[in-house]
Amino acid sequence: MEISNLNTPKHVAIIMDGNGRWAKKKGETRLFGHNEGVNTVQKIIKAAIKAKIKFLTLYTFSKENWDRPKIEISNILSLLTDNILKSEKEIIKNKIKINTIGHIEDLPKKSQYLIQKLIKKTNKNKDLTLTLAISYSARTEIIDCIQKILEDQKNGKFNCEKLNEESVNNYLYTKNIPYPDLLIRTGGEKRISNFLLWQLAYTELYFSNTEWPDFCESEFNKAIEEFQRRERRFGKVVK
Ligand code: IPE
Ligand code: IPE
Ligand code: MG
Repeated sequence: MEISNLNTPKHVAIIMDGNGRWAKKKGETRLFGHNEGVNTVQKIIKAAIKAKIKFLTLYTFSKENWDRPKIEISNILSLLTDNILKSEKEIIKNKIKINTIGHIEDLPKKSQYLIQKLIKKTNKNKDLTLTLAISYSARTEIIDCIQKILEDQKNGKFNCEKLNEESVNNYLYTKNIPYPDLLIRTGGEKRISNFLLWQLAYTELYFSNTEWPDFCESEFNKAIEEFQRRERRFGKVVK
């Protein structure tokens, strides 16, 4: 199914949720769900390219997810690195620019190295910017932002009298990417779970009951089409 190019969201952010519940329903381990979730990631990246989305941001691992059982954490992290290794050729072929937000220094050294290498390699790509939120917390992002501003104020690099929305944006992890136009959360929960709190202020929200492993191109396109039918007012009156 082709979707209209009219009013396509420039930036789509996704909370990829429901891997564990999907697996449990099948009598499988949570790892089985995360494994299958990786296939959905591949499908949705392709769908985003097809739909001419310029920025795709995927909530991959939250800061709070570190409180999960050790075995699940190491499963998720090894899936992440294995997958980066496996997809490198495809990423380069599709001119995808890889970016991360969050504290990637919390990751094992090997994963950090692989990610940094791919970021450098794809730096000049322009078709799709794929941002992976890893060890990410929106509240921490805001605290980090305030700390950097105060530091720069102290060493004379920033004048706090000039503080405005634009300057805050320049100190966030997302400084090089626009605000999301559309946020999709799969898995049925209707919450933000500490994702992009500042950036989502005027984002259109779309909740799907489908668990992430079952999410697919046609469901993704359904979300885009719903976005295309919405009227964004940004607080103004539309004549
Ligand atoms: C999302 O699925 C993946 C991550 C948070 C890493 P979950 O693992 O949260 O699955 P549910 O929500 O427990 O079903
Ligand atoms: C949000 O899902 C984080 C990711 C998808 C990476 P969670 O499963 O961690 O969120 P809660 O616990 O349901 O709020
Ligand atoms: Mg969850």
